[in-house]
Amino acid sequence: MVSMSDKNPDHKIIADYNGYDYKKEFWDNSGREYEDLADRMAIRKLLPDAMENFVDIAGGYGRLADEYISRAKKSTIFDYSKTELADAKKTYGDRINTKAGDIYALPFKDEEFDSLMMIRATHHFKDMPKVIEELYRILKPGGVAVIEVASKKTLPKMMRYWFKKSDINPFDRKPSYLKELEMYNYHPKYMESLFKNQGFKILRVLSVSNFRSAKLKKLFGVKNLTRMEKVAQPLLAPIRFAPSIYYKLEKPAK
Ligand SMILES: C[S@@+](CC[C@H](N)C(=O)[O-])C[C@H]1O[C@@H](n2cnc3c(N)ncnc32)[C@H](O)[C@@H]1O
Repeated sequence: MVSMSDKNPDHKIIADYNGYDYKKEFWDNSGREYEDLADRMAIRKLLPDAMENFVDIAGGYGRLADEYISRAKKSTIFDYSKTELADAKKTYGDRINTKAGDIYALPFKDEEFDSLMMIRATHHFKDMPKVIEELYRILKPGGVAVIEVASKKTLPKMMRYWFKKSDINPFDRKPSYLKELEMYNYHPKYMESLFKNQGFKILRVLSVSNFRSAKLKKLFGVKNLTRMEKVAQPLLAPIRFAPSIYYKLEKPAK
């Protein structure tokens, strides 16, 4: 993965996956089966059962495409990386459309889609108000957006802060930037005020990947953790516990 911020510090794209085999390097045989299942569990609950025109924003190689292809009449994956999109085409052929571009200027018409999702992407984005504005723009009134947020307010981050291993305050609502990982984390309350200011209505929240820990995976095994995750996603949503907070949003009908 090439960091665009190395090439141009002002550029808003900070993660260029062109030439990076995200599937092979990050997901295949990586011990992340639990995280993948937790994402799928949430998406199954939040995405509408029947969709007309759907877009997976920053959808990469289409890891989650089998969760929406059968629910939508037309599905598109949008991503900056042409390498990722070519992989998606290789797997799904005519069942998926692909479109390359930059999230800050989505190459789609106003109100083009009735539904969209954006999973595991917020940590790459510096200008979140612009991202949310763009997502809102391309949705039809009455349309639904499922957005996953990389939360800064997690128990491990609190522990690191309390034990002075990190000076990032997880309770501070301002976005945080993890320099070594080149990643942004967002406070759920910050994101919720962005959603509301943009005009979105929050329909449902889930706390996802609650047990993302190598130790817990070893102790309980993926099968048991997944069972616990099923209960925890709605149960822990009110306290926004997990590193991934999922939102089901609606652009109100006119
Ligand atoms: C961690 S991957 C997530 C992929 C997919 N959503 C998933 O959950 O498997 C992040 C994706 O964001 C894309 N991305 C990063 N910056 C982008 C930008 N400015 N515009 C569009 N896509 C971007 C990357 O190319 C990459 O495919």
